[in-house]
Amino acid sequence: AAAALSAAAADEFPSKPITIIVPFAAGGPTDKVARDLAEALRKPLGTTVIVDNAAGAGGAIGANKVARAQPDGYTLLLHHIGMATMPTLVPNIPFKVESDFEYLGMVNDVPMTIIGKPGLPANNYKELVAWMQQNKGRINLGNAGIGSASHLCGLLFQHAVGVDMTQVPYKGTGPAMTDLMGGQIDLMCDQTTNTTGAIEARKVKVFAVTTPKRLAVPALKDVPTMQEMGVKDFQVTIFHGLYAPKGTPAPVLKKLNDALKTALKDPDFIKREESLGAVVVNDKRVDPAEHKKFVHGEIAKWTPLIKAAGVHVE
Ligand code: MLT
Repeated sequence: AAAALSAAAADEFPSKPITIIVPFAAGGPTDKVARDLAEALRKPLGTTVIVDNAAGAGGAIGANKVARAQPDGYTLLLHHIGMATMPTLVPNIPFKVESDFEYLGMVNDVPMTIIGKPGLPANNYKELVAWMQQNKGRINLGNAGIGSASHLCGLLFQHAVGVDMTQVPYKGTGPAMTDLMGGQIDLMCDQTTNTTGAIEARKVKVFAVTTPKRLAVPALKDVPTMQEMGVKDFQVTIFHGLYAPKGTPAPVLKKLNDALKTALKDPDFIKREESLGAVVVNDKRVDPAEHKKFVHGEIAKWTPLIKAAGVHVE
């Protein structure tokens, strides 16, 4: 393990810019949350907060980069539900989710939307399912790689409809969205932090949301839930959390968690997130121990659900 930070250096922390690694391409939902959060962390941390994209392998490359980084508090990871699903979806990931990271607290919960290319000949969920059944074997579903949130939601969606689709992986759903709007791919399940703008601009079609209740966001308030469409137990909400390498000194972890708590109360941050359907964490899950317990519970929850969805891990 890298040399531990000296007590003096821990006291001076932070004395240089902090980097948040986003394990997906720029322009996607994870990147969006990270950049908004970096903005809100700058003041409480009293230093520059840089966002750096390290994409690939459905988020495993960026996560591994942080697991292996100096445990000095200057390299953090912003990741999502993938921390709970990679252990099942991504064969032999080179790190342990529960022991190679320090848990700094949760950030937000983000709903997902089932969206389609603008020219897709269906104008509601029922017509979409009919179109899917007529086009079996010819449908391309975009995602951010095996282990990503869009991959997980896409698998649950195809299992619910009973129509297998060709999975087209991208380095993030930012680039995937460009191809969806261009009609190169047909469908995607992606987070509202990335899809709200495209839906509002009518650059994609939206068919359903994956939350138990409809969303308050004006552009999404008339979009039905999967439950309303008769798909039971289809609920996917994407949580995001902040992580540091295992072994980061306790005084540094405390400064980072204190700054996170302040950032999550930043009115501008909350406004930006809520305008895109996200809900900023304002409960006990911002506490590191609760964050770790929550992820542990999510691993236990999603492992059987992924297996039940007949996911044969490649
Ligand atoms: C995902 O599908 O995991 C994310 O949407 C990827 C991204 O943030 O680009």
